Amino acid sequence: RKDVGILAMDIYFPPTCVLQDELENHDGVSKGKYTIGLGQDSMAFCTEVEDVISMSLTVVKSLLEKYKIDPKCIGRLEVGSETVIDKSKSIKTWLMQIFEECGNTDIEGVDSSNACYGGTAALFNCVNWVESNSWDGRYGLVVCTDSAVYAEGPARPTGGAAAIAMLIGPNAPISFESKYRGSRMAHVYDFYKPDLASEYPVVDGKLSQTCYLMALDSCYNVFCKKYEKLEGKQFSIHDADYFVFHSPYNKLVQKSFARLYYNDFLRKCSTVEEDSRTKLEPYSGLSSEESYQSRELEKASQQVAKHLYDSKVQPTTLLPKQLGNMYTASLYAALASVIHNKNETLAGQRIVMFSYGSGLTSTMFSFKISEGQHPFGLSNIVSILDVSKKLESRHVVAPEKFVAALKLMEHRYGAKDFTTSQDTSLLAPGTYYLTHVDSMYRRFYAVK
Ligand code: ACO
Repeated sequence: RKDVGILAMDIYFPPTCVLQDELENHDGVSKGKYTIGLGQDSMAFCTEVEDVISMSLTVVKSLLEKYKIDPKCIGRLEVGSETVIDKSKSIKTWLMQIFEECGNTDIEGVDSSNACYGGTAALFNCVNWVESNSWDGRYGLVVCTDSAVYAEGPARPTGGAAAIAMLIGPNAPISFESKYRGSRMAHVYDFYKPDLASEYPVVDGKLSQTCYLMALDSCYNVFCKKYEKLEGKQFSIHDADYFVFHSPYNKLVQKSFARLYYNDFLRKCSTVEEDSRTKLEPYSGLSSEESYQSRELEKASQQVAKHLYDSKVQPTTLLPKQLGNMYTASLYAALASVIHNKNETLAGQRIVMFSYGSGLTSTMFSFKISEGQHPFGLSNIVSILDVSKKLESRHVVAPEKFVAALKLMEHRYGAKDFTTSQDTSLLAPGTYYLTHVDSMYRRFYAVK
């Protein structure tokens, strides 16, 4: 089996969004805090007629139809999500409705969850299956679906929502370089959801930022070591064309890329320019602990990495800046962004991915890109993703309405015996939506 990876992709996000600029005014924070400070433009959110199940149904149905995939050809279905609707019944089982209809119930896989990392775990499961002896020749299907909502306060502007579906198989245009994977897994309390009566996480914002950057350093070092052992030469950021980061908000992505640059400097990579080396020299003696706290280092490394950020990272930031943190879908929405922006020049190039889930689990891995063959060609993927049109057709909602929607969903979370408004006026045809939850907590969906 050659070039196992992503054959096809589709993305769905709710038609409603709130502008970060308006949210700043509404929340009474200093002007620029969310737009420049966090680097975010707008944030997608689900209203009461949508949730992670309806979004995943919508995106799976859409992918199968648009790429003309017979549902019988799916042999494994894996879901990544951290939005808990049921503590036992997997989201995968709701998706089975689509396959049962076509007489296909022979599909392995369930849900994976660990904060924003579940989608990556699901993806690895599918890729490993296709590469294994138990593969039966059919496709794998990965779904990342999340609605990220936070309690009122500083974390609220870092929410978001989306679902992404990815078809997995051999001879893929986005194929895994499986040998270069670097992980860091550890026990920390940076972001977690211990209160089962609430959809909101408990979050130590500052700690989560440091944990993210520590995990990044560690994964990058393992990734580089594995590359160097196999290739017999040093790896530096110049060996990849794009870096795609899990994106809770854009500022952290800017800091992350600068951090990789600083790592290259510490690893004495010959690709670090003389001028940059001089600028980073004052920070060469910092302990790693000190380096995470140093504002001066942060500024200096962001400055020297700026030109490379513009070419290697900026094209990946479109959807995460527009939609916000989509948890498990964030990293893959960033991948979709670079495919959307750069598909004409991607063939032959390498994309490095960094997946982070609080708690914590993290992996750096890489893709090699090729043109692919119809219907799995890059240009077809771009036209099916249809990113620009989907973004343009969204409806901007006032912050007051966004807050009211969240309030309503706080009451609905874990509740039974209710009917939604069934107001589908903003939904596109083909979108699944929640109609009611009965006295046995059973959820019912319809398609517009
Ligand atoms: N103009 C420009 N920039 C501003 C302004 C302004 N008016 N006001 C503040 N800023 C800057 C700050 O300097 C800061 O930038 P810096 O990090 O470069 O210093 C940035 O805006 C954010 O301001 P803070 O005061 O640090 O923000 P606060 O602590 O209130 O909240 C946080 C930010 C911690 C990220 C919060 O939104 C949060 O907890 N989010 C959820 C946790 C999260 O996403 N963690 C990331 C990894 S884990 C995961 O994926 C869930």
